Amino acid sequence: MTNRRTFFNELANTWDKQTRTEKLLKFTEQLVPKFGLSKGQRVLDVGTGTGILIPFLLQQVGPSGGVVAVDFAEKMIEACKAKYAHLSNISFAIQQAEKLDFPAESFDAVICFGLFPHIENKEAALRQMNHVLKPEGTLIIAHALSSEEIRAHHHNAASVVAHDELPEKTAMVQLLKQAGFKEIHITDKPGCYLCKSKKLQ
Ligand SMILES: C[S@@+](CC[C@H](N)C(=O)[O-])C[C@H]1O[C@@H](n2cnc3c(N)ncnc32)[C@H](O)[C@@H]1O
Repeated sequence: MTNRRTFFNELANTWDKQTRTEKLLKFTEQLVPKFGLSKGQRVLDVGTGTGILIPFLLQQVGPSGGVVAVDFAEKMIEACKAKYAHLSNISFAIQQAEKLDFPAESFDAVICFGLFPHIENKEAALRQMNHVLKPEGTLIIAHALSSEEIRAHHHNAASVVAHDELPEKTAMVQLLKQAGFKEIHITDKPGCYLCKSKKLQ
């Protein structure tokens, strides 16, 4: 079986065509303001794919802020760069969520949109995200589907992602607490999963 990185690399060229519906674009436009970002902040978008959130994130942080877009699939980063490399205040890196290579306390917010179920070692990834966040920095884990809908969506795919799912609520809270997060709020309803938490001091 192909691994997840190969799986996503193979999807990169057709990702936008396959996934960018009017409904999703509208959803993301309305979702990003709920992250609570502000002007001047530095944001890390992990599992950026072809960068669906990038324009909205840049809008929130303004010209004095910046976004770093990372993904472990180099073809996704290539496609993302082709669309957004001309913009100011954006940079790109090929990195795995479990092995982020940024200085400690270098971001105000870490965003995972459509990523979390696919992370093989969720504990390690959360520890890494915590490490690169500033104290009181925000972690966002979000999807355009509920956890139940994600489970059904992936089960339909006969592939390496068939069993990728979000931890159920109690397990998610536990994972986040163990990795050093507090003030955990989870909304899980049809058409939206939004988990917000903050790094401990
Ligand atoms: C379902 S796609 C979502 C992409 C984008 N956020 C979107 O919503 O269009 C998941 C993305 O996460 C990336 N990914 C999966 N596991 C990863 C990991 N452990 N580290 C970094 N990126 C990962 C994949 O390569 C893919 O681009």
